[in-house]
Amino acid sequence: MSKGNVLVTGGAGFIGSHTAVELVAAGYRPVVVDNLANSNRDVLKRMAAIVGEPVAFHEVDCTDAEALEGVFQTEGPFVGAIHFAAYKAVGESVERPTAYFLNNIGSTAVLLDALTAHGVRRLVFSSSCTVYGEPETTRVDETAPIRTAESPYGYTKQACERLITDHHTAHPALNATLLRYFNPIGAHPSAQIGELPIGRPNNLIPFLTQAVAGLREPLTVFGDDYPTPDGTCIRDYIHVVDLARAHVAALERAPEGVSVYNLGTGNGASVKEVIDAFERATGKAVPHAMGPRRAGDVVAIYADASKAWRELGWKTERSLEEALADAWRWQEAVTR
Ligand code: UD1
Repeated sequence: MSKGNVLVTGGAGFIGSHTAVELVAAGYRPVVVDNLANSNRDVLKRMAAIVGEPVAFHEVDCTDAEALEGVFQTEGPFVGAIHFAAYKAVGESVERPTAYFLNNIGSTAVLLDALTAHGVRRLVFSSSCTVYGEPETTRVDETAPIRTAESPYGYTKQACERLITDHHTAHPALNATLLRYFNPIGAHPSAQIGELPIGRPNNLIPFLTQAVAGLREPLTVFGDDYPTPDGTCIRDYIHVVDLARAHVAALERAPEGVSVYNLGTGNGASVKEVIDAFERATGKAVPHAMGPRRAGDVVAIYADASKAWRELGWKTERSLEEALADAWRWQEAVTR
């Protein structure tokens, strides 16, 4: 017996595809909506290979209210929705702010109206620790102030959180959970699905695995003169499968109203520690060189995720080494 249909916008993307898989494991029927702007149709087949059944899919742009309405007509009713669909490249958002505002904020507005029109009672939103900007403390909990966004991308996450909260005030029947991710990495252990960056990766792990695979020049470590124990920046890297499971927990256990959770491991790792952990986990050397700092980088930030542990009963279960081993297995699968 299915626990019900869950609308998953952006469900062909990195975090969305892993979440759809975990929804099936938890007894739900995900309905994936994606415009394939940063993903491809093959992902649906690969998801089906993991879960052993086809995954419902509609090639729909969430800013298209009419097309989205069609999905509600054919696939509803929904017990909940998880909204991943968005552009997510910080640098690109600086080049194309209008595209980011229209797509990220516009799709959220269209979705909110559709959810309310159809009486859906639960929305889970894909947000980011980027809403905290340069934090005052390195360990950040949900009460940390929202600071002026560093990029149009970051602003759209803040704006969507605000929009969802304002919508709840006007339409309290729609409960919402805002999930602020730290740094999602890794891939499904089956190596069927993972991160598929288009072109040159900006993020550390996809660049690192492509460098190890010989597809890129050696990794540049962006700065080793930061005020951290080994001089390199510290982040909280969370395995994408742990992150995906948090969405299921939020769907099932988040309180009524609007709730906010940080999702991370609670542990910081420096860039040098990531390189060492990768080498331990895979036995592969990481070709790398020290380089200058990257503009806009926060020195050190990691999650206080204890609220999610307490209220959602969710905890990360996978280590940094496991995440890196899975990221490498995925890199090998796509290189082949
Ligand atoms: C970035 C975004 C963030 C977004 C997240 C996930 C910025 C300021 N932040 O986070 O909003 O949610 O990606 O997509 O862009 N590093 C290297 N060499 C590299 C690449 C990265 O040393 O080639 C270092 C960086 O300096 C940083 C760490 O690795 O210390 C992680 O970088 P990255 O993966 O880009 O993530 P964030 O910058 O934390």
